[in-house]
Amino acid sequence: MKTDAPKVIKLSEYKKPDYLVETIDLVLHLDNTKTLVQSTMKIKRNTDEVTPLILNGEELVLKSIKLNNETYTDYVHSTENHSLTLNKVPAEFTLMIENEINPEANKTLDGLYKSGTIFCTQNEPEGFRRITFYVDRPDNMAKFTTKIVADKKLYPILLSNGNPIARGDLEGGKHFVTWEDPFKKPAYLYALVAGDLGVIKDTFKTKSGRNVALEIYCDKGNENKCHHAMESLKKSMKWDEDRFGLEYDLDIYMIVAVDAFNMGAMENKGLNIFNSAYVLADQKSATDTNFYGIESVIGHEYFHNWTGNRITCRDWFQLTLKEGLTVFRDQEFSADMNSRSVERIQSVMGLRAAQFAEDAGPTSHPIKPATYMEINNFYTATIYEKGAEVIRMIQTLLGVDGFRKGMDKYFELFDGQAVRTEDFIHAMSVANNNFDFTQFKNWYGQNGTPLLKATSKYDEAAKRFTLTLTQTLPANAPKDAKAYHMPVRVGLIDSTGKDIASKVLELKETTQDFVFENITSKPIASVNREFSAPVKLTTDLTFDEQLFLMAHDSDSFNRFEAAQVVSTKLILDLIEDAKAKRTFELNSKYVEAFGKILADNTIDEAFKALSMSIPGEGVLHQEQAEIAYPETEAVRTFVKKTLATAHQDTLVKLYKSIEQKEYKLDPKSMGQRDLKNKCLDLLSYVEGGKYNSLAFDHFKAATNMTDEIGALTTIVHANSVHKDEALKAFYDKWKHETLVMQKWLTVQASASDESTYDAILKLEKDAVYDRTIPNLVRALLGQFVATNKVQFNHPSGRGYKLIADRLLELDKLNPQVASRLASGFKDFKRTPKVLQDLMRPELERIIKTDGLSKNVYEIVSKILG
Ligand code: PHE
Ligand code: ZN
Repeated sequence: MKTDAPKVIKLSEYKKPDYLVETIDLVLHLDNTKTLVQSTMKIKRNTDEVTPLILNGEELVLKSIKLNNETYTDYVHSTENHSLTLNKVPAEFTLMIENEINPEANKTLDGLYKSGTIFCTQNEPEGFRRITFYVDRPDNMAKFTTKIVADKKLYPILLSNGNPIARGDLEGGKHFVTWEDPFKKPAYLYALVAGDLGVIKDTFKTKSGRNVALEIYCDKGNENKCHHAMESLKKSMKWDEDRFGLEYDLDIYMIVAVDAFNMGAMENKGLNIFNSAYVLADQKSATDTNFYGIESVIGHEYFHNWTGNRITCRDWFQLTLKEGLTVFRDQEFSADMNSRSVERIQSVMGLRAAQFAEDAGPTSHPIKPATYMEINNFYTATIYEKGAEVIRMIQTLLGVDGFRKGMDKYFELFDGQAVRTEDFIHAMSVANNNFDFTQFKNWYGQNGTPLLKATSKYDEAAKRFTLTLTQTLPANAPKDAKAYHMPVRVGLIDSTGKDIASKVLELKETTQDFVFENITSKPIASVNREFSAPVKLTTDLTFDEQLFLMAHDSDSFNRFEAAQVVSTKLILDLIEDAKAKRTFELNSKYVEAFGKILADNTIDEAFKALSMSIPGEGVLHQEQAEIAYPETEAVRTFVKKTLATAHQDTLVKLYKSIEQKEYKLDPKSMGQRDLKNKCLDLLSYVEGGKYNSLAFDHFKAATNMTDEIGALTTIVHANSVHKDEALKAFYDKWKHETLVMQKWLTVQASASDESTYDAILKLEKDAVYDRTIPNLVRALLGQFVATNKVQFNHPSGRGYKLIADRLLELDKLNPQVASRLASGFKDFKRTPKVLQDLMRPELERIIKTDGLSKNVYEIVSKILG
């Protein structure tokens, strides 16, 4: 941690490592405060020059160094530079290092740390250097063995990567297990776990007939909540064989759930470590969204075994090589396991809320950044979700079969290597008649969301329809930015709603005309179907034509989209009315169209529920040069109230028509629960608390968490008379389950009324809260910043001050969590001047703090610009 600006790391300065580690044999003697690490490495020089060997190391107490079995003294250990330099070493040698670490004091949750009573590790991207001195970079791939020594009573289970090859008892009540990973890997995929854990076991027979042992570990007592994760794992293994021909390569696959974890989960070879939120679930305590998320994250980490582990990244600028590709794969998996159209709509909603916002703000970066200060700041929606969109475009351009050929080629050429995004593109190209990706590569190096305009002309006499597509680069794109090569999926619809043409257009120029011949009547163009390119689209369609698409488009994404386009436009106009203090009125055609969707029995529940979504605050803020926080919220409330009031009978009828005799987890049942909860929520906007008791009854009668938390959210956000009673009942029932308490905190932190600020101060003192657990910080403070825009941007400035205070406290414990909170200030430049004047001093106070982490420094310096 430093106060002066941290060093900027540049992709252009990449140099291959001077030394490579061939094998590393570790012995760890686990102890809460004094864990002894003994590392024996076979090292080889990787350059022609004779250079010193520089090892990374952070927060390590160096005990001894031996080179080829002799004590070595010609070294410099710099705790400030986090390095150990061995001045003179031969071309090939064995190095033995002993060092000590303090897992209990490690609250960064990086390296070896304790989550409750469990020892666990997190080494991506640069955590291994907190375990021992190492060439800690992904292009250094070595074979690992690990001997774990620990107290047998406290830590009966000892796990690491690969296969167990020896175990036994030792004196003093200790025991050991030795693990060997036959695959070479970078240190970021190394893992170790020790604890008194519960486990569920199963097996999977691979396509070539091998039996793989599957084990999911958790805190004792939670075993019954691991079954959905296990089912999801087996589905993932089968899916990757079926869709990509990829078979698992070890005899054992383990997953461990821990409560203290910075991210969602980690794909360590053969030993995934998961945030317990993405493993544990049962009907009573987890929502459908949780179940869905577990399936997708279990899939994601499993799919990394090939896209990430077998083929890894040369350096961290290539992060999207594994993350974009693996998100694409998990999205496809979710689409195949559930409803493809629902999956696509949800992914795009997520992309817009998070990635589009990021890409328009101060931390905007290309999916392949050219520089960074702190790599942990680059596990972003851009690298992940936009990265997945870029992969999806490749599949759209090549077709599903062409894409599969490209994947096969990728593994044929690069298995076992640490490579670049260019290598992936190369494989895709050579497997597809040298498809030309030259211009397509612009997606990797340019930031900003492109704008796409579609206009049309119909020549009745010539029966010719011309669609003109124009792409514009956003204002924050690089000066020398070039046009994109983008696949735009288009359909033409006739007046009866039938598709008369459907194809993928390849836009390469700034403006291009696409001509459709033999079109006998004027069609409506449905553009960017399935959201084939991640752009902001505008069209020349009239309001009525949008309503037509909303009712008739055969592409379900664009049917959903038409409703979003219409409501976004109406809401933005109303916000202008609100700012000018004019009276509001909601377009009656829209109110009517909304009612038609509600009443339409041919639309399935899940899609209907999605179609009822009113564009989120964050998405609406993106469209405003100066963000009107209270007006945006007021207009959203007004729209919901108007729709609810106009259609209350239909909503009640719909609500009552859905009856679930038994709890099922299939897409249909999940869609039904979503729709029911959406009806309930909308009804809560009707004047005078008319439906308060309906919500409270729903809450009391709930037999699953989806209904229970759905009702609670409605009750709390509507400030219903039942609010306090419901919150208390929920607390009393669930106070011993941290995952459920996280939901309880979230509901309160996101309530937009004035009392929330005081509620947060009180909740921080509650026994269920613990600021060293990232999930709890995210549930309370993270939610407040991200979703409670009105209270965070309170005119008193108290929201800013609270978050700045907490962020600085957290930065001393866990810079990664602090830096995520810091990005909550990213709209700084677009907040109204009076608020900027309150926000600026807080940002300046943060950046001037002595010993600030580079994580927070990088984000806040970009925000201040
Ligand atoms: N590589 C993990 C994933 O996407 C994410 C992660 C990054 C987890 C860094 C922990 C730390 O699956
Ligand atoms: Zn990942």
